[in-house]
Amino acid sequence: MTAGATARERWLAPGRSVFRALRFLMTRVTLRDSDRPRSSAATAVPIGSARPRAVHRLAFATAAATFAGIVTGGVVTSTESGRVDTNWPSFDGNVLPSFSAMAQNDGLLVEHGHRLLMASVGLLALAIPIVARCCGESRRRVRVLAICLPFLVLPPAILGGLTVLGGLHPALSILHVAVAMVFVSAVTAVSVLTSRVWFEAAERYGADSLEASARERLAKNISGLPAIAATATAFIWVQIVLGAVPRHATADVGGSTMLMVGNVVHIVWAFAVVTIALFLAGRVLGRLSKVADLLRPAAGLFVLLLVQVFLGFATFISQPKAPAPVVDEHPGFVASGSHEALASVHQAAGVLILLVSLVLTLRAFRIRDLCGRFDPAPATGGDPA
Ligand code: HEM
Repeated sequence: MTAGATARERWLAPGRSVFRALRFLMTRVTLRDSDRPRSSAATAVPIGSARPRAVHRLAFATAAATFAGIVTGGVVTSTESGRVDTNWPSFDGNVLPSFSAMAQNDGLLVEHGHRLLMASVGLLALAIPIVARCCGESRRRVRVLAICLPFLVLPPAILGGLTVLGGLHPALSILHVAVAMVFVSAVTAVSVLTSRVWFEAAERYGADSLEASARERLAKNISGLPAIAATATAFIWVQIVLGAVPRHATADVGGSTMLMVGNVVHIVWAFAVVTIALFLAGRVLGRLSKVADLLRPAAGLFVLLLVQVFLGFATFISQPKAPAPVVDEHPGFVASGSHEALASVHQAAGVLILLVSLVLTLRAFRIRDLCGRFDPAPATGGDPA
């Protein structure tokens, strides 16, 4: 440090050294020969010098933890365990939860378990942009998306707390579900954009790998698919929010009318979702069955949808005819039975369907961009035969 260094620089110097050391380590940990772009097609994509494996692993772990948290949240809703502890952000008035109390009380276990899982998701979301920076992730959209994550995790966290404080008001619970789906989709998108499949696509579908005729055929078969897949993903998000309407109706707010109208709209919209998702899966299975990166999520979407419709009907049939009143405070599970189990599984499958459709959408855009847009313009002049 020079004698002329300002007090501010002296304070910042240790932090900068730690940051540099961290960045060096990250690049060491994340660089692999197989991650470096090999062909000129690969270098055409602004991917920096290497695949940011640490970012991918962290984003994948965060997406998995978020999914686990959403499943736990679904159990909280089904069993109405949100009433076991009416305090927030404290755990029953304490800074930390009591693990012995959780072990003895199922309601407390899922309620506090959900809060703890989501708190760790918040910390992981905070780490993703830092790790992306340390790994030298150079793609602007990935960096911007990573920076957005800590901000996207805040609305579901705050709305979750307000739901507890607001006596499980349906409007807050429905909004909580809607924003939670946005966060889990964003973190899954970061995981997809940093995945091996994403990077290897440049080698598989780029100009250097495919012959002109094969590329043209692929461009023709994939044209329109990204738009269909994006629409299907948006339809599924709407379907999840609509599913929250009957699920969160209470005897005091909404009552039987909200339950019935919510059920009808959710079931009618299910037809739109099933139609577009089956059309999407059918198009991939029919025209792009050799493109494994699309075939796998498309087949997954197809199977999950069939299971989901069956689960949806079973949930509907087992549903109580009128919503129950919200109890002020309860020592454990308020409700538990076959309907609660079915509704929880149906909700978890719904989120999985959203994420599989998102993966398919992002990959469809990627491959379409790599093989070029199909130009159906007729040949000018020449022999029409
Ligand atoms: C096809 C795609 C479908 C998806 C993605 C989907 C998704 C969901 C989700 C995520 C929820 C829970 C929302 C929350 O917890 O806030 C839900 C609730 C519900 N869904 Fe579906 N659903 C689908 C189809 C169906 C079908 C076909 C039926 C019935 C015929 C159905 C009946 C219901 C019912 C009754 C609820 C409320 C459950 C309760 O009372 O707790 N769903 N849906």
